Amino acid sequence: MKEIILSGIQPSGKLHIGNYLGSLRNFVELQKQHECYFFIADYHSISEDYDPKQKQAQVIELTRDYLAAGLDPKKCTIFAQSHLSQHTELAWIFNCVTPISYLERMTQYKDKASRQKHNINMGLFDYPVLQAADILMYKATAVPVGIDQDQHVELTRQIARFFNKRFGNTFTEPKTLHTDTPKVMSLLEPEKKMSKSLGDNHCIYIDDEPEAIKSKLAKAVTDTGDGKGVGAQNLLDLIKIFSDKKIHDKFVNDSNAGNLKYSELKAQLATDIAEYFADFRKKKKEISNNDVKKILSDGATKASKVATQTLDEVRKKIGIR
Ligand code: ADP
Ligand code: TRP
Repeated sequence: MKEIILSGIQPSGKLHIGNYLGSLRNFVELQKQHECYFFIADYHSISEDYDPKQKQAQVIELTRDYLAAGLDPKKCTIFAQSHLSQHTELAWIFNCVTPISYLERMTQYKDKASRQKHNINMGLFDYPVLQAADILMYKATAVPVGIDQDQHVELTRQIARFFNKRFGNTFTEPKTLHTDTPKVMSLLEPEKKMSKSLGDNHCIYIDDEPEAIKSKLAKAVTDTGDGKGVGAQNLLDLIKIFSDKKIHDKFVNDSNAGNLKYSELKAQLATDIAEYFADFRKKKKEISNNDVKKILSDGATKASKVATQTLDEVRKKIGIR
């Protein structure tokens, strides 16, 4: 069945292999068969501390990541959230059907608020409602994201239900799509998910040069050789994705025998990750800012057609014309 797919990533720094394996890689596959919308969540990103002077560069950088990873504007709609005023408008309407108590349960809000005590702004709290607007605007049936976003997609389904109950059937409830690697772990604290907020040495960025990948992996936390520690398991999971099956099998056998040599595993993984993203790095360097601007502008025009229709329908239903 052809699905309507929507997802977005915040332009707030480089993408790491967790972002890639948890979402971007899946986007590239999905565009082949489905109606897809992939956007840059720039309005979301201003709810966290940021430098206004860098924001445009971050939007361009993330769009280049999308394109270099293989998103094709002929096969999917790529746009920046702020280029359409409809998202924030629909979010306001959804605010008026969303109980505050539902937002108070959001674990990402609690996490972010505890990290950003000096700036617990309303946007940080309301963020999942804007996310629901992003998704329901295109009547998406499926949302490809990492596990950390499940609660937000669940809230989206609840908001769809609240709205439909009050104003009549309008929105379908989207499902969440996970990859088989929905939670890549940090290199230095492997009990936590890889996240740029932990720091650069916790992450392998997809445009890291081979030397950087090697030195970060050399410092990754493992165990004494039985492959049972979470850090070791994380590296074995990565070998499974980035290396040949034979190589993966060899390291699994070594770990079962209790004599896994981590220096060997790390060196192999560094070479294979660097190789995997070689083409990506080359393509990314070739994409100009002008290419990006044109793609975002065309994408906004396409997305806007659907967004205008949805918003017209919603306004009629809620009695605002
Ligand atoms: P970060 O935690 O590094 O700031 P984001 O919150 O910007 O990452 O996540 C962007 C996308 O990547 C989301 O779909 C998210 O679910 C996914 N993602 C983030 N971290 C991981 C991870 N460690 N493993 C798998 N997917 C992830
Ligand atoms: N909240 C997502 C994140 O931090 C980004 C996002 C915003 C999103 N709107 C969305 C993801 C809609 C999927 C669908 O990664």
